Amino acid sequence: MQVGSEAHKELYCRAFLEGHRKYEPEDLPWPDLQGDDLKLIQGIPFWDHALQAEADAGPMVKACAEVATDPLIREALALQGYEEERHGRTIQHMIDRYEIEINEIHVEMPPNVEEAFIDFGFEECLDSFGAFGLFELARRSQLVPRELFEIFDQVMQEEAHHIVFFINWFAHRQINRGLVAGATVGPKAAWHYAKALSKLGGIFFGGDSDEGEDFVVTGAAAFVDNLTPSLVLETSLTENERRLAGFDRDLLRPNFVPRVARTMLPVLKLLPFG
Ligand SMILES: [Fe+2]
Ligand SMILES: [Fe+2]
Repeated sequence: MQVGSEAHKELYCRAFLEGHRKYEPEDLPWPDLQGDDLKLIQGIPFWDHALQAEADAGPMVKACAEVATDPLIREALALQGYEEERHGRTIQHMIDRYEIEINEIHVEMPPNVEEAFIDFGFEECLDSFGAFGLFELARRSQLVPRELFEIFDQVMQEEAHHIVFFINWFAHRQINRGLVAGATVGPKAAWHYAKALSKLGGIFFGGDSDEGEDFVVTGAAAFVDNLTPSLVLETSLTENERRLAGFDRDLLRPNFVPRVARTMLPVLKLLPFG
């Protein structure tokens, strides 16, 4: 399979369109939570950040679909926009159902939607890698009702579909614009990953004013004892492989972040906090 070819485009678009599942957030089997279970969910500090990210993504990806010239790519992008919007509605439904207090969110449309989608795609590749691991660690802790994990497991798997679609869309686009041959390892991709990483660093270490606070770590630490960077990295690597295993072998997979993680892991283990 030639990356960038018409056949490649058909494959990554069809794989994405065929992976779609129909459901409405309010029809999902939400458990009744009481007492400590309810307090734990209400106390997780990242729901407004999660809602903001999904609420921003839905309209932006849909707008990106509208400017796509290829009908099949347009259909796939529109579907991703719909799924992001549904993620937002899923989180909103949970917030309402469990009376979780959050800060108000504001959605703004970026001036250049295609550029915004590229930034967003690389951020999703980076964030999903860590989220897959943290989600698994939280699941193992058994502190949260299994039914909730099953609901969000579906969201996680949709994110896996998004990142595989994105990395193939990006490579196809770069090649067809004559920008680069080995798109995913090209300097452009590395630059985008660096940008995504600096944003994530802001979120982790509170350098980024309003979304500051170490919400990811605080959130995860609510579930997991002895949370170490190497445990997160190791679990993320395993989970990343598991979640991406079912995709067609001819599709590209986001491999930059796992490769960096695999390199870092032995070094991290030598450190006192690792
Ligand atoms: Fe999403
Ligand atoms: Fe997504």
